[in-house]
Amino acid sequence: MSNKATVRSPSNIAFIKYWGAKDIERAIPENPSLSMTLRNCVSRCTVEHLDADGDHEVRWRGAAGGFETAPPAFSSRVVQHLDRLRDWADCGGRFRVATENTFPAAAGIASSASGFSALTLATLAALGREVTVEEQSELARLSGSGSASRSVVGGYVEWPADGAGDRSYARQVAPSEHWDLRDVVAIVESGPKKTSSLDGHRRARTSPYFETRLECLPERFAAVRDAVLARDFGRLGPLVEAEAIDLHTIAMTSEPAIFYWQPGTLEVLAAVRSMRDDGLEAWSTMDAGANVHVICTPSSEPEVADRLSQLPAVEDVIRDGVGPGPVREEADLL
Ligand code: DP6
Repeated sequence: MSNKATVRSPSNIAFIKYWGAKDIERAIPENPSLSMTLRNCVSRCTVEHLDADGDHEVRWRGAAGGFETAPPAFSSRVVQHLDRLRDWADCGGRFRVATENTFPAAAGIASSASGFSALTLATLAALGREVTVEEQSELARLSGSGSASRSVVGGYVEWPADGAGDRSYARQVAPSEHWDLRDVVAIVESGPKKTSSLDGHRRARTSPYFETRLECLPERFAAVRDAVLARDFGRLGPLVEAEAIDLHTIAMTSEPAIFYWQPGTLEVLAAVRSMRDDGLEAWSTMDAGANVHVICTPSSEPEVADRLSQLPAVEDVIRDGVGPGPVREEADLL
């Protein structure tokens, strides 16, 4: 049996955002979230399990194009997760890891969601452990990147907040074939964000509006879920955009305040409003970053992408859409 495996896992974009945790160490969310798993924004990760003592080895694709030893800030989170998975599997040994993204890391496109989902699944495969999707989702969540729990599943995915006891995992609402939606990402800032989502979750309760958000969310969650199931874009779009503005309102009114938005973010939001005035089916959402994900229908996508790429503030445009979820690959990155 091979002790090495490669998994390619996608990022996801949340229509209802995970923001605030009941237990931050274990990423137990305050509220339910719902996302669309992407197709093109992916992480690939090879994990090898060695029956030998010693430190884990973590490599990533560096700026020069080749694989190199990952910097400590990144590798320490990976090492912690590898230790956690080794304890869970009740085995010894050490791991060698190589990982890469197809998109800029820490740019408001959830690179930790795809990265930790790929790392978790590749480690399980390298150990030859077959577990249920629920368990995969829980193990990915324990990385500390809660959104990784949604990336192990394809299509449209919900992560309830009312898990039974200690359990908390994501599950599919509908497969990717259910509804072909697109996500055109307008990159207005490609560098890493200054405040991590983890710090955002920690501060969320300091916003005077957080309780109100929690009170209103069940209704919005149910409406988004219904709109996805009914393939009702006219209903989904406004809900998704309102939800993103809520998330950023909480961030901006936390103590200390977190401003993820940049001038370019507002430029894109305004452009998307005028696209709608011109008849395009497009609505905005933002995660914990400055970049804007424009959720649109396939018929609107080419013009949305074209108009976004002409905006002075937009450095790059990534065209993505709903995808089927993680896959094993033959490639070996080590
Ligand atoms: C705003 O703690 O999962 O993207 O590890 O940075 O992806 P990352 O953060 P995580 O929080 C996600 C915050 C969010 C909303 C969401 O994806 O639900």
